[in-house]
Amino acid sequence: MFDHDKFYSRLGRSFKPGVLTTVVLAAFEMMKQGKKMISLTGGSYDPPSLPSSEIKRIFMEAPREAWEEMLQYGNTVGMLRLREELAGFMSEAGIKTNPGKEIIVTTGSQEAIDLVTRVFVDPGDVMLIGKPTYLSALSAFRQMDPEFREVTIDGDGMDTNALEDEMKMLKAEEKKVKLLYIIPSFQNPTSAVMSRERKLRVLELAEEHDFLIFEDNPYGYISFEGPMPTPLAGLDKSGRVMYTSTFSKIVSPGLRLGWLVAHEDFIAKMSEAKTRISICNDGLAQYAAAELLRRGNVTNQIPRITEVYRKKRDLMLETMEYSFPEEAEWNEPKGGLFLWVKMPERVNTTEMLMESLKRGVAYIPGSNFFTGPVHNYIRLNYSFPSEPDIVEGIQILGGLLKENS
Ligand SMILES: Cc1ncc(COP(=O)(O)O)c(C=O)c1O
Repeated sequence: MFDHDKFYSRLGRSFKPGVLTTVVLAAFEMMKQGKKMISLTGGSYDPPSLPSSEIKRIFMEAPREAWEEMLQYGNTVGMLRLREELAGFMSEAGIKTNPGKEIIVTTGSQEAIDLVTRVFVDPGDVMLIGKPTYLSALSAFRQMDPEFREVTIDGDGMDTNALEDEMKMLKAEEKKVKLLYIIPSFQNPTSAVMSRERKLRVLELAEEHDFLIFEDNPYGYISFEGPMPTPLAGLDKSGRVMYTSTFSKIVSPGLRLGWLVAHEDFIAKMSEAKTRISICNDGLAQYAAAELLRRGNVTNQIPRITEVYRKKRDLMLETMEYSFPEEAEWNEPKGGLFLWVKMPERVNTTEMLMESLKRGVAYIPGSNFFTGPVHNYIRLNYSFPSEPDIVEGIQILGGLLKENS
């Protein structure tokens, strides 16, 4: 018999179906049986709002030289015209960067996370992460088997007192932190935002204890109350902050484009790492993204999509108010795409998922955002489902939660 398993590398053996694959597969099975499935899972775009006509127009109007650039191999760090547009776009958020040396274009922020993992993380390195934190960052970091230290996320984002306590504990153990991974604005999964004071304290602690910060900012632009909160990278004076953001939440996840800003030496290393993975990004997507930025389509799209998401958030909150059990607690997100629901500890939302799928609603169990066993949270997405599906999905889920409370 052909034994597939014996051929895997150590890393290959560690790849197991993640929650997204499992939930999506289960949902697909249900749909094959002709059942409707309402997805409150990933952070996908509101389908009718995708800027397809703007992108069509860009390609219709592209001159011959642009097609030659688009359809050719490109620079590993990305099309220069896109990096220049990105530098201008980020300067509005207070991030000053040299597009020639300090930016690399990536296949979404997910590739930026993978590049940082490859270039900076060795097995056993101490990494600080939020408790809870973005599940696919956790799985990317896990490839290198670091030692995770979780730092509490409360209503104001990462708790800097808890961070200081962790630093003291590490000192007592004679261990040093290599890297802090942080999502300061509308954190995934909690949607919490860090105050300016906390951000400044994080920067001070990085200086004091000599570690790197990796800031992930996909949601900052989706702000329901005022402008995007200033990113850590906009406050950083020492160059310790590596910063990633993405087109996925503001323009289109299908473009598969993100970017990473860091010291030029770090970018050179990450460019070498990316050469080995993909050589360069897709030229068509990069050209479209550069033009969307140049034409002002991105700055016009952000308030439009934010308004759509604010309405959907309100509808989800309103429906939860009358459908969810009394014991359920949740936040009111000031931006981003998710609601984070806490149930009493006796409720196991991982075990509840199969029944929810059977009733036609998919969600992400909170356990996937922690390194340890925590089973009483649910992350709900409001950007993707239609308004009627939000109402129907939340009512079904509310009924199930009541039965399990
Ligand atoms: C916190 C965070 N980082 C990174 C990503 C990856 O996004 P993408 O690869 O589509 O840019 C996501 C996607 O949901 C996310 O929530």
